[in-house]
Amino acid sequence: MAVMQYKAEKPFAQKHLLTLQDWTPDEIMQCLALASELKDKQKNGVPHEILKGKHLAMIFTKSSTRTRVSFEVGISQLGGKGLFLSDRDIQIGRGESIHDTAEVLSRFVDGIMIRTYKHSDVEGLAKYGSIPVINGLTDEFHPCQILADLLTVYEHLGKLKGLKLAFVGDGFNMAHSLMIGCSKLGIDCAVACPEDYQPKNEYVKWAEKNAEAAGSKVVVTRSVEEAMTGADVLYTDVWASMGQEEESRKRALAFRDYQVNAENWKLTNDGAIFLHCLPAHRGEEVTADIIDGRMSVVFDEAENRLHAQKAVMALLMK
Ligand code: CP
Ligand code: NVA
Repeated sequence: MAVMQYKAEKPFAQKHLLTLQDWTPDEIMQCLALASELKDKQKNGVPHEILKGKHLAMIFTKSSTRTRVSFEVGISQLGGKGLFLSDRDIQIGRGESIHDTAEVLSRFVDGIMIRTYKHSDVEGLAKYGSIPVINGLTDEFHPCQILADLLTVYEHLGKLKGLKLAFVGDGFNMAHSLMIGCSKLGIDCAVACPEDYQPKNEYVKWAEKNAEAAGSKVVVTRSVEEAMTGADVLYTDVWASMGQEEESRKRALAFRDYQVNAENWKLTNDGAIFLHCLPAHRGEEVTADIIDGRMSVVFDEAENRLHAQKAVMALLMK
C-alpha cells in the first residue's frame, strides 16, 4: 500500500487531542500522513523509536479491547511504555480529584490517555496537568477512532474530500465525532437516528458551519433511506453504548428500523465500504452478511487504531 503523501501548510501546534474540533484540517492530514508512514515502517521492520523512554498513563473508567491494546502496543513500538490504570485500582475510583490526578501524573509521565464518561474530566486533566492529554472516548467524542476511520477510508477509496459518509444509529459519541471529522475534511456526512436519539444540537450546528466552510454538507435525518442513498462509506455503532446497558431492551425497540442490512445496502454507491468502530452486535445494528461481507473493512479499521494513535502520540509527546 502506498504511503499517504501530504505537505504540511503550518507546523503542528496542538498540545492535546480532546476533540477533533480543536485540530485544523491541516493538522488532521499531517496526523494521517504520519500514521501511514509509521504503518509502512512497522510493516517493513524499520525501527521508529521516536518516543524512547517516554511514559504514557492510560486511565480507563470504561472497558476496552482496541483502545487499550493499540495504545499499549503503540507506545511500546515507539520505544516508550504504557501504564494501564483502571479506575478500580487508582485513587480516581475512590474520589481523588481530576485536578490532583492531573498534577501528580504530570510529575511522573509524559502523556495521559483517558477513556471515561464525562468529557469535562478529560478537559480537567488538560487544564490542570502540564502534559498532553489524549481522549480515548467519552460520552461526547471518540477522536482517535475517527483518525483511524479516515485513514481506512483513504486507504480503500483513495481520497477523502468529496465522499459521502452515512452514519445510521445512535446520535451519541461516534455520530458526534464523525460529523466533526467529516466536516473538517470536506466529506458529506448524513446521520440517520430515531427521533429520541438525535445527536446533540450544539455539535450538529458546529459541524454544519464547519462543513459549509469546507464545501461539504452535514445532514441529520430520521430517514435511513435519505442517509444511505449515494453513500460511499456506511458507518454504524451499537444501539446501547457503555453505560447504557440497562436501556438495551428499550433501545432495541427504538432502533429496530435502523439496522444496516443487505436490503438497504442497495442504496449505497457501487464500491461502498462498511465501517464500525466495534464491538459489534450482529443481528442488531448490522447483519452478519454486511459486517462479514466483501464491503466490510472493519478489521483494517481496527488495525488502523494502532497506526493513527502512534501518530497522535508522536505528534503530541515528542
Ligand atoms: N472502538 C473501540 O474504541 O474499541 P474498544 O472499546 O475495544 O476500545
Ligand atoms: N458508542 C460506543 C462506542 C464504543 C467504541 C460506546 O460508547 O460504547
